[in-house]
Amino acid sequence: MGLPNIELCGFHCHVGSMVFDSDTFLRSAEIMLEFCALMKNKYGYVTRILDLGGGYGVRYVESQPVISIKDNIRQVSQFIKDKCSSLNIALPSLRLEPGRSIVADAGMTLYTVGTVKRITGYKNYVSIDGGMTDNPRYALYGSQYTVVTANKADCNCELKADLVGRCCESGDIVQPDVMFPESICRKDIVAVLTTGAYNYSMASNYNRIPRPAVVMINENDDYLAVKRETLEDLVSNDL
Ligand SMILES: Cc1ncc(COP(=O)(O)O)c(C=O)c1O
Repeated sequence: MGLPNIELCGFHCHVGSMVFDSDTFLRSAEIMLEFCALMKNKYGYVTRILDLGGGYGVRYVESQPVISIKDNIRQVSQFIKDKCSSLNIALPSLRLEPGRSIVADAGMTLYTVGTVKRITGYKNYVSIDGGMTDNPRYALYGSQYTVVTANKADCNCELKADLVGRCCESGDIVQPDVMFPESICRKDIVAVLTTGAYNYSMASNYNRIPRPAVVMINENDDYLAVKRETLEDLVSNDL
């Protein structure tokens, strides 16, 4: 407030990601509004904008709930109105920064199966033409995904196997303990669902593996949104 070139518009917070309950958002709103009231009482500063960040959870696997963002926002905004009047502060203009909840469900990743390795008494592996380079989330922090054998989606799934990549790393696992059809074999197509958020943006050229293409599809149309990387692309900056 004392800096002539800075205009303080308000305050911002972000409580985290994959939040399924509304209590967390209510509590963060409460903490922020109490802070706004403190700033008003201490310095006479009136908060114009309050940004509560993002964080709405999406359903990667069936055990996770589907949340009503509409109901959640209605609840949080009512809470904010009530809290502002009890704290005797003006209602600030509210901002949210939803990320994952907008786009995660809009995307899925399709892989072609390479080797299927069955090790009796130990474990089975289904390897694919991608892996932690296009989706590092399981390797980084154990994220759960729903995996479907797309071209055999109506078959019973009786083979438990780890879905693994082609990076030549022991950590290159896209998802462990996936149930596949017993008949899964080379050239089958495996779909990993809900990869529209934090996926292409997290992809890398680890081990100089090129990144895949991104195709946009709607009811009547499809188009290439991002070209498949080539080996020439990978060496284009080499001198
Ligand atoms: C400051 C900030 N706002 C918004 C988001 C979006 O979060 P989400 O994708 O969980 O909605 C993030 C994600 O980390 C963030 O750090």
